Amino acid sequence: MIVGFLGTGAISEAIIRGLCDKANYSDRILISKRSPGRSAKLAHDYDHVEVVAENASLVEKSDWVIVAVLPGQVEATLAKLTFRSDQKVISLAAGIPLARLSEWVFPCTNVSRAIPMPPIEFGMGPVALCPQDPSIEALFGRIGTAVSVSDEEQFNLFGAASAVMADYFDQVATVSSWMESHAMEPDTAARYTTSLYHALASLTLGQAPEDLQSMSAECLTPGGLNEQFLTTCTDSGSRDTLKAGLDDVLARLESNTDSTS
Ligand SMILES: NC(=O)c1ccc[n+]([C@@H]2O[C@H](COP(=O)([O-])OP(=O)(O)OC[C@H]3O[C@@H](n4cnc5c(N)ncnc54)[C@H](OP(=O)(O)O)[C@@H]3O)[C@@H](O)[C@H]2O)c1
Repeated sequence: MIVGFLGTGAISEAIIRGLCDKANYSDRILISKRSPGRSAKLAHDYDHVEVVAENASLVEKSDWVIVAVLPGQVEATLAKLTFRSDQKVISLAAGIPLARLSEWVFPCTNVSRAIPMPPIEFGMGPVALCPQDPSIEALFGRIGTAVSVSDEEQFNLFGAASAVMADYFDQVATVSSWMESHAMEPDTAARYTTSLYHALASLTLGQAPEDLQSMSAECLTPGGLNEQFLTTCTDSGSRDTLKAGLDDVLARLESNTDSTS
């Protein structure tokens, strides 16, 4: 099978490096010449990755086409191309619904959306998919946790939840820099904080929904430090802010306007 990437940006590179480095993927991969430094480096690093100068040629040669240009570039990019009914098109573009994509790639009718996350480069993290397609799940399942839904409105919930990434890193950095502000060595603060967040995130992995809901209460000692901090956060409205932020991102995705990750 030949997979072609229309757009060789940050997320295409993460997927390709994940497949090649973490999953020993060895089928042919075609990539756009655009972002010439990045595409040349990928082709240099992996024998089975090949730069294709023209998008038309890339699409013509590919069995699966992964659309990885920015949302505002998708329509213009696809409009110039001719797809076949025997191909699969997988769009990574935030906020562009299946109905519009299907118009642009007709007569190809096998159209999906995916939301990979940057940790895919290291073979980790969720890959949201819509609709369910066992062969696409199998590919992304090699380098992440493939989670599929058949309803595009449900898919938008994944899109909204994926927006917590920058806030998560900011929280880790804030705890570390707070320690520094109290005269701790930066390396010591970072070592402690990153290990703490890593361990806690690991504990949530694979928990059943009901266990996930009770983890917070179970690690509290009544009158203890965790209870004090949780109460401060809850009373200040931080959980309400989290939910309101997710609602705002969801509303943006549901408005079907162009969005960027
Ligand atoms: N980054 C993420 O974490 C992430 C996660 C999930 C989904 N996504 C989605 O994935 C898509 C790509 O995101 P990104 O972060 O990888 O963006 P990016 O780094 O800006 O990459 C976009 C790429 O598209 C290329 N391009 C633009 N027009 C093109 C055309 N007509 N033909 C071929 N290539 C073209 C650009 O080339 P030039 O540099 O030469 O302009 C660039 O290589 C977006 O739609 C985004 O919503 C991103």
